[in-house]
Amino acid sequence: MITDRTSWAVKGADIVSELMTLINVTDEEKDLLKALQATAREQSPGLLDAFYGRLLSHGNTAEYLRNVPLEHLHATLTNWFLDIFSGDYNEQYAQKRLKIGQVHVHIGLPVRYPLAMIDVIMQYGEQVTKASSNPALAFVAFKKVLSLDIAIFNQAYEDNQLKYLAEMVGGERLARLLLSGNG
Ligand code: HEM
Repeated sequence: MITDRTSWAVKGADIVSELMTLINVTDEEKDLLKALQATAREQSPGLLDAFYGRLLSHGNTAEYLRNVPLEHLHATLTNWFLDIFSGDYNEQYAQKRLKIGQVHVHIGLPVRYPLAMIDVIMQYGEQVTKASSNPALAFVAFKKVLSLDIAIFNQAYEDNQLKYLAEMVGGERLARLLLSGNG
């Protein structure tokens, strides 16, 4: 039997404060990212081509994009990418990112696909950071903020599983024990 953990009590937007402490993006790193927002905008058409080109060339992922206007997807992914270079990763940022994760949960998309697409995001993020006054530190900062995003995205999936399992078994604690294989 596993013991209860304090991390189990961290919910919603508090998750971002907790992760920010864990990941520790410094003020210098935030400033470096913020200074790159215009460059990120310039590079976003390339990112969109690579991102949707890959998803559309694979049958299982293309299926999800069939009835969604590509302009909508382009606009939302561009904004998502530019927000990484906002330099401000507060509660509002976390809520927005959690909601984006939830959108993907609700379309029945297996989490492996968004996770696999991080490869493309990483490539373009690195490209953008090359224009920085301090490319090495800007790339370190980019990876930190992207890790934060990956964690929040996953959290949306986990929250959903926990919510339904907790409803079924009559409590979150038992749901956590079951999900950990200790039920
Ligand atoms: C790094 C991975 C990804 C990121 C950052 C991302 C980002 C976004 C964002 C910001 C939105 C708009 C959400 C909103 O309306 O608030 C969105 C919507 C959407 N995404 Fe993704 N996405 C990712 C992966 C994927 C993958 C792998 C697929 C499909 C194979 C996908 C399919 C969709 C669809 C269909 C919508 C529109 C949902 C709707 O409006 O009904 N996404 N995505």
